[in-house]
Amino acid sequence: MEYIDIEGMSDEEVDGRIREIKARLGSRVFMPVHHYQRDEIVQFADVTGDSLQLSRVSAKTDAEFIVFCGVYFMAEIARILAPPDKHVFIPDKYAGCPLADYASIDDVLKVWEHLDHDDFIPITYANSHAEIKAFCGENNGLVCTSSNAAKLFNWVLGNLKKVFFLPDVNLGINTSEALGLKDYTIVDGSTSDFSGINDKNVVIWNGNCPIHRVFTIDHVRYWREKEPEAKIIVHPECTPDVVKVSDMTGSTAGIKRAVEDSPAGSRWVIGTELNFVERLKRQNPDKFIAPLEDSICMNMSKIRRRKLLKTLIRIENGDYSEEVVVSSEISEKARIAINRMLELS
Ligand code: 13P
Repeated sequence: MEYIDIEGMSDEEVDGRIREIKARLGSRVFMPVHHYQRDEIVQFADVTGDSLQLSRVSAKTDAEFIVFCGVYFMAEIARILAPPDKHVFIPDKYAGCPLADYASIDDVLKVWEHLDHDDFIPITYANSHAEIKAFCGENNGLVCTSSNAAKLFNWVLGNLKKVFFLPDVNLGINTSEALGLKDYTIVDGSTSDFSGINDKNVVIWNGNCPIHRVFTIDHVRYWREKEPEAKIIVHPECTPDVVKVSDMTGSTAGIKRAVEDSPAGSRWVIGTELNFVERLKRQNPDKFIAPLEDSICMNMSKIRRRKLLKTLIRIENGDYSEEVVVSSEISEKARIAINRMLELS
């Protein structure tokens, strides 16, 4: 095997090698890239998108190798949806999601014991571990993303059931409030008083995203004063007080669409991950675009060009030792919950 000094190469050489390998692998390799990735990765994307869009394309691709550039739970979704003979990789397996880490299966099961199983349907945000998705699949539940949470809450309520929502308290409250549901309660692994819990329409897990909790109403006030003409659009993982004083919310794809569809000269202040906001700014030079505050997802940022090159070299060498693995038992149950989302949205 040829020795390649990847660390000693210039960025241009690394990019050149990535291009060569991608060209040699052709349609055998497919690279979905989340909007929060760095430009150095986005340039190689076969498709960019939000969590829902990337789940859909991962389910459909015929490629033998999926190199998912995002965080681990996204690569896990691709693994769960892809046929068993495909190989799924992420260039850095330690690109985790602190929001997903808020809900361990043991803690969730402890709370579930206290809920009336005939009444409650669990919905987990995609930003969760595969075991939590499997728990939902096993209990008539489903997965949601930021772009379809309201629709899927409505599906549960329309079936005269109640929602047990995991693991994002902000998305849970923002969605409940948008639907006019005021009788929610918040739980986590430390909850010991379950009195009255079965009278609630929505029970929400107390996790949150460190990237989005950074944004405050003071940031909104600052920009209202500095840029009174600007529309403030934030991701629904932001805290409810920030969402209330903003003009709009949207998934990453929703934010992108709102900005791109606005006329030249439009002014936007955006409350979500900085890599994405900076790229929107470069791609829309005829508009004013500013981040509500600088907030970088360090996990998304772990995916770098050299790690991508190493992954592609391993694939060419037939070394699948680093592929993403989800047990068949968890996969089968989690697939039910993800497919239910894909069918309903
Ligand atoms: P989107 O589904 O909006 O892309 O969000 C994914 C995410 O992880 C936000 O923190």
